[in-house]
Order: sequence, then structure tokens, then C-alpha cells
Amino acid sequence: MASILHVPLSNIENSLTERLKELHDSILERSPGVCRIACALYDPKTDLLKTFINSTHTGHAISRYEYELSKSYQLQKLKESGKCRVIDKIEDELDTGTAHSDWLLEQKYRSSLTIPMISNNHFIGFIFIDSEEEGYFDDQTQRDLVLLTKLITLTISSEISTVQALLATAQAASDFAHLRDFETGRHLNRMALLSRMIAKEIAEEFQFSDEFIEHLYLFSPLHDIGKIGIPDSILFKPGKLTEEEFEIMKGHVDKGVQIIAKVLDDYKLSHLSDSQLMLNIVACHHEYINGTGYPKGLAGDEIPIEARIVTVADIFDALTSKRPYKEAMPIDESIKGLEVLVEIGKLDPICVNALIKNLDQASDIVTRYKDD
Ligand SMILES: [Fe+2]
Ligand SMILES: [Fe+2]
Repeated sequence: MASILHVPLSNIENSLTERLKELHDSILERSPGVCRIACALYDPKTDLLKTFINSTHTGHAISRYEYELSKSYQLQKLKESGKCRVIDKIEDELDTGTAHSDWLLEQKYRSSLTIPMISNNHFIGFIFIDSEEEGYFDDQTQRDLVLLTKLITLTISSEISTVQALLATAQAASDFAHLRDFETGRHLNRMALLSRMIAKEIAEEFQFSDEFIEHLYLFSPLHDIGKIGIPDSILFKPGKLTEEEFEIMKGHVDKGVQIIAKVLDDYKLSHLSDSQLMLNIVACHHEYINGTGYPKGLAGDEIPIEARIVTVADIFDALTSKRPYKEAMPIDESIKGLEVLVEIGKLDPICVNALIKNLDQASDIVTRYKDD
């Protein structure tokens, strides 16, 4: 069975980003003018189109970019019709005034091809292909590329449905276990959003891809999945836990790792890119930088960055929310609380600073998704 930090590398498939780069290389043999291929995913719940993976040979990649689809008449039309769009001369035909179009004009791209990704009759996003040559996408090139991009759509959609199946299973498991109210629903929502916010802030420093950030966002709510293995008498105990009970409670981490590893195994998903990310979040979300956390007492960089991020998001959310045994702490006091935890060496200062830098957004998240 797969376990934390020990999944053999051969089991882990290349990330989608790496696979897209390989495909781009083979496209270049036939169509050498293709400078960039990028895929953006569409989230129907929020109407946001989000940068996801890209392979960029010339120019700077645009990442961590979100855009409301309904704001672009042209893209909205492509989504509805499922048709491709060719722009022969970008500077003449582009909707201006968005960060994306400004960025596009700064690059040397002159022509582009946009292909909607449709899987099982569902629109899942767009593939954008750009060239530095004006009018590069003639009929022949378009035909070649549309066929090849079907491959990209297939790969992405199969990975998306796999991840969704996995999350649904994990979600069903935690619903079944009647976790304490304050640990379900909105807490999970908030900490996922906070984790993503921190990850975006430090993305450049740690070279996180958009794909990694998206998976961190999706997987962070699984951190406490192991609590379904903890007896109710301890899980629901209103007062403070005895030392012995606390030891049992700590077992939720190893139980969580076992559950995730089993689900990955049952669904033959250990090969999924970022399955390690999922295991690391569950395995290390109670580890502290100074080695005083549990279960392994890992220290510093031994704790994967994804877990250091989730820990900060989880603690910040616990401080700012009301729990049966405590009132919600105001944001500024909660920040002081985090700073104390940095001083005594428990939390990663980089992750805490990233949160402080985005305080407005953080308070928006905790107020908007406040528990009733
Ligand atoms: Fe936990
Ligand atoms: Fe939590």
C-alpha cells in the first residue's frame, strides 16, 4: 500500500504540464510556428475561466489568472457554439482592457487559434494556441492542431473525472462519519480558499504550477479525513481531552493516510499526478517546523510545502471561527496568534507572511463563508 513519502516515483505519472510540453514538442515538428499552447479550465459554479497548464516556448507564461467568462462576449460565443476561432492579426481583433489581452499584446504573438474543450457534451475550458507569425493558422495547420488538441482534451477530462470520483468517495466517507459540525462544510470551504490564496502568493518563489495550486485547493479539505476512524466518545467529547484520549485523537493522521492510500489503490489511482500531494496534506497537516508536531515530528523542509500551507490555513480558520468551546477571534488578534506560533517555531513564516500580505482577501473569505 502506498504511504506517505514512500510512493515509488515510477508509480507517479508525469504531471499534465509535463505531458503537454511533450505534446508541444511533437507539434513543433510539424508546425514549427506554434510558440505557445495553454489550457484554461472553466468552473461553472463561479463562471471563472482559470489558467491551468501551459507550454510556452517564446514569451512569458501567464499564470494564476482568473477571468469571468460572461465578461468576454467572444469567448462566451465560442463556448456556446463549440467552434474554433482563428485570429490572424491579434492586435487588430482582440477584446482589449483585460489583464489577459494586455499580456497577449506584450508578447510577440501575432496570430492565435482558440479551441473549446468539450468532453461528454460538457464544456470544460479552452485551449489557446499562439504563433509569432501573422496568419499562421491556415486550414491545414488548423486541421492538424484540432486533431492533436483532442488528445489534450481527453487527457485533461479523464484526469478531472478521476479526481472528482476520488473526491466524491472521500467526501462520502466523511459525510458518513458525521464529523463534528464545525469541521464540515464551510470550514473546509474556507480553508481550501485560504490555502489557494497562500499558494498563489508564494507560487513564484516555490515554482508552483497552476495545476499544483488547483490540486492543493481541491485536496486540502481532505486533511482530517482520518477522523472518521476516531471513536465518537472522543471525537464528540465536549470538554478537554485527557492525555490518553489525545493520543488516540492524534491517530487520525495515520488513519487518514491509510484511507487515502486505500482509495488510491482501490481505484488504481496511485499513478495520478499529484496523488502524492494529497497524501502529504493528510500526513503532515499537524507537523510543526520546529519538529514538535505529530505524528512523525518532521522539521523544516522535511514537511512538504503543501502541508505547511494547509496547516497555516487550518489554524487561521480555527482562530477566526466560533467553536462550541470558544468565540471567534477578530482577524487582527488571529494574526497576532499566528505570529506567536511563528516566533516559537511552529508555523512557516513564509506561509504566514503570505496570508498577512493578503489580509483583505483572507477576511473576505472568513466573513463570506462564515458559519451560521
Ligand atoms: Fe487534523
Ligand atoms: Fe481542519
